[in-house]
Parts: sequence; structure tokens; C-alpha cells
Amino acid sequence: MADPVPLPVLEARSAALTGCPAWRTLQQAAAGIGRARLGTLLDAPDRYPAFSRTAAGLHLDFSRQRLDAAALGCLLDLAGERNLADWIAHLFAGADVNGTEHRPALHVALRSRDTRPLRVGGTDIRELVSRELARSLELAARVAEGRYLGHGGQPVTDVVNIGIGGSDLGLVMVTQALAPFRTGAVRSHFVANIDGTELADLLDRLDPARTLFIVCSKSFTTLETQLNAEAARRWLLRSLPESALARHVVAISVNAAAMDRFGIAAANRFAIWDWVGGRYSLWSSVGLAIAMAIGPVHFRALLDGAAGLDEHFASAPFAGNLPVLLGLLGVWNQNFLGVGSHAVLPYSQRLARLPAFLQQLEMESNGKGVTRSGEPVGWSTGTIVWGEAGSNAQHAFFQLLHQGTQSFSADFVAPAAAAGGPPGQHRAALANMLAQAEALARGRTAATALTELLAGGMPEAEARTLAGHKVHPGDHPSSIILLEQLDPRGLGALVALYEHKVFVQAVIWGINPFDQWGVELGKDLARRMAAGLDDGAGGPGLPGIAARLVAGDVAGGSR
Ligand code: F6P
Repeated sequence: MADPVPLPVLEARSAALTGCPAWRTLQQAAAGIGRARLGTLLDAPDRYPAFSRTAAGLHLDFSRQRLDAAALGCLLDLAGERNLADWIAHLFAGADVNGTEHRPALHVALRSRDTRPLRVGGTDIRELVSRELARSLELAARVAEGRYLGHGGQPVTDVVNIGIGGSDLGLVMVTQALAPFRTGAVRSHFVANIDGTELADLLDRLDPARTLFIVCSKSFTTLETQLNAEAARRWLLRSLPESALARHVVAISVNAAAMDRFGIAAANRFAIWDWVGGRYSLWSSVGLAIAMAIGPVHFRALLDGAAGLDEHFASAPFAGNLPVLLGLLGVWNQNFLGVGSHAVLPYSQRLARLPAFLQQLEMESNGKGVTRSGEPVGWSTGTIVWGEAGSNAQHAFFQLLHQGTQSFSADFVAPAAAAGGPPGQHRAALANMLAQAEALARGRTAATALTELLAGGMPEAEARTLAGHKVHPGDHPSSIILLEQLDPRGLGALVALYEHKVFVQAVIWGINPFDQWGVELGKDLARRMAAGLDDGAGGPGLPGIAARLVAGDVAGGSR
């Protein structure tokens, strides 16, 4: 293979998206497709084999997307014109793809089966990664097997991960998804929110002598995590001596000085590195809570599933490359069909937290309005991602999906094989998922609705009125993603699929998916607001009213 185009050259080319020849052809293709009904596309011979792919234990059915072979070909051309192959090569090679922070984004190295040295700043990170993985899995094994004892000699039965965002969402999602793989030695809890009620309600039920806290914070400066960790520490010290903390608190961070200040013992610290983004970090020591729940063997299988998908992403031709296709489909919907709202609909209660996890992964990564060189983008970026587990979602917001006026796309996600639950119920879930994808695609016309009502014996005048209410416009694009099984390997592949989808889209859009400057302003303002609330003044307007409420001066008069 030829040497990839150097990173600075790729960076410089990032801005010119709408000037790409494929961009203009895609605009024409979209205008043509806009007149075609999705149901008609679906009825074309060989539609399903032409618009579905299988790799790394995952199956992607995109036959219900509003595109034809010509449009798909143009999207693949666009990927070529955006130098996607070179960007992928740079990602895996550890180049500084996170330009604003001058760092690589090497989450792939956390699960790689490649043993050849990979250097970041002169250090072989393969060694670092395997050493830290071995350390954290050694502790995880003791906890998962019920061998980890608290200060008083009793086995730990409850593990509480204190973290937020990337130090929480993936851990919650994976631990819930892999419930059948948990060893059962410990209960897992996750505390994230700033207001403290989540922690307070949990601590009411726990015994300090049997509880282990993981303070999980890449920066170790995140306010939510600091406040909750300090509260947990105070709770422990109410019944245990200071010397007990070493058995009841471990931490994961890049920030050694902050861990010093918190008093985390050296042996209880696990490393993460600045070349791993928080939302891409569950594969590192950040995933300790997962490993403590499912044990080291299953944790390694999770890594292995992701590694298989990575190898596919790095080597498969784009026409059969699942993350590339998924990313391009999103670009097609958003930039050419004007659909920038995307529902994630897992048909498995175990995957109920997948939408929340993907919300951070996609929106924090690609919610950017400037190109890599800092110029305003001239095209839409960053999809709005939301969702809920089916079939619950059918009884909440599907009415709007079927008959409302908003445009959206959807990913339906499910394991093909049942993973517990009473016999037949998994089948019912799959049937519902397929039915919803079909209904969203094909809809129901007024003529069909009228025929059905008349066939049911309704008087014609009434049937004609009601038929309008029973129209389903359809034409809503969706994909179905099937895992062979919801097991550690399959889930690892699924998460890696979405991580790389995000990267593909960032490359097309010419933006940096690995920074998150947009979270800073609100944090700064919150610090100032807190100061205002503390001194009871708060200034004019709402802050002042809030300050008076906090101070108990509700009516603005005397206390
Ligand atoms: O506020 C956003 C963010 O920085 C995320 O990017 C990150 O996952 C989360 O906060 C938590 O950060 P940390 O792990 O440093 O506490």
C-alpha cells in the first residue's frame, strides 16, 4: 500500500467538502430519490442482498434507507475524495488526529491484538496498556470472585462507580447489557449526577464495611465526581478509620497530583492516558466496574470483539465496511435528505442504555461547528441522537414517528439469538422490531386505509373521514443492526462499530471528533453562579431569585 497522505495535508484539505465532485453528484441523486417511495425501492429485486452486509459478528441491513445503488456508489466516492483510507491509517498509526489537543486518539490500541510496538512520545504504549490491563484485571478478578475483603475482613459485596459522561455511560450500558455474564459476587452501582440525591439514596442501602468505591475521572477535576467522591469518603469515615480508605476507594485518572490530594493510595491508582478520549475509554482501566462485574475472561472477550471490528474497519473495502457504510448513511440522511435527527431503538431491555451512551459518543464527538482548521463549516454536522428501548418506545413516542410531521432516521438494534427471558418473548421482540421498520418505511396510504375500513363494514361517509387519520406517511429511513448474540464479544464489536461510524462522519465533515470545547462555557458559568448562590446575592434576574430561594428568603423579604 502507498504511504498515506501526511496528516497536515489531510488537515488542510478538510475544509473543502462542498467542492468535492461527489458532493454535487449526491445533491442531484438526492433530488431524484426524493421523488421515489421507499416502498418502491424496497420492492426492487435483490434489494435486500444488495443493501445488507455481515462482518465481525454483526449484520447490517440498510435496505430501508432511501438510497439506490447509484447514490451508494457516490457516497463511496465521497469517502475516497475525503481521503478516508488515509485518515483511518493515521488513526491506527497513532498520528495526532486530535488536532486541537495535539494528541492521537488510540482507543483502538486498548484492545488491539497487534503486538508490534506503537510509540506515543517515544514510549511504547503496547507495554503500558498490557501492564495496566493486567493490574486492573487482577483486582477485578478478586472482586468478581468474592475474594476482595474490606477493612474489617468481610468480603466486598457492593461496587460503586463514581464518574460521569465517558466515565459512567459506557460502564452502565455494558454492565446492564451483559447481566447474564456477571459473576454475582458483587452488586454494581453507578453514581453520576451533581445534585447528590442519587448517592444519598444509594448509601442508605449500603454497608460501608462491604462497599468499594471506584472514583473514575480521567481529569479528576470534574465537579460532579469530586462532590460525590468527597461525600462517599465522608460516609465511609463515619464508621471506618482513615486507614480503611485504602481498602475501600480506588481511582482511575491521568491526574496523579489530584489523586494525591484526595489521598488515593499508590497501589489503588489505575492509569488512563491523555491519548484516550473519555467517551472512548471503557476499554481501559475506566472499565474496571465492568470487569469487576463480569470478571477478566469476559472483559477480555469484550476487548476481543472490538478488536475484530477494528481489524475489519482498517482492512475491508469500503463497499463492505460496516462502520464506513453506517457513517456514510448518516451523512446521506443528514446532508442530502435533510434528516438530522436519529433514533436509536434497541429491541432488548438489556441494551436500554445504548441510546444514552451513543448520545455522548456521537453528539460530544461530532457536535462541532468549525472545521479542523477552525473555519465555520458550510454544511450540517453532528446528528441529534436520542432513543429508548423497544417495545417500550412504541408506547411512548412512536405515534409521532408514524404520523407526526418531523423527519428522522433510526437504527434498530437487537441480538439475533435470545439471551434469557421466557420462551417466545425474544421472538415477539424481533417481530415487533421488524414490523416497526416496515411500517416506518412503507407507511399506509389513504386508499389502503379506506379499503380496510370499508372491508370492516364501516359506513362509507365515516370511513372516508377516518381514513385520513389512519394514513401513515412512511418513507422514514432506518437500518437494522443484528448482533449474533448479546455477549461480550458481540457487544464489543457493536460499540466499536459506532465509535468508527463517528470517525467516518467526522472525516467526511472535516471536523475533529476527539475534543469537546463546547462543554467548557457552562462549567465556567456554573462556578460563577455557585459563588453568587453562596454569598446570597446572585445579582439581578434569575440568579438573584435562586440565591434568595437558597437562602430561604422566598418572598424576597425577611428570612
Ligand atoms: O464534560 C464533558 C466531559 O469532559 C466528558 O468529555 C467526559 O467524559 C466527562 O466530562 C467526564 O470527565 P472526567 O472523566 O475527566 O471526569
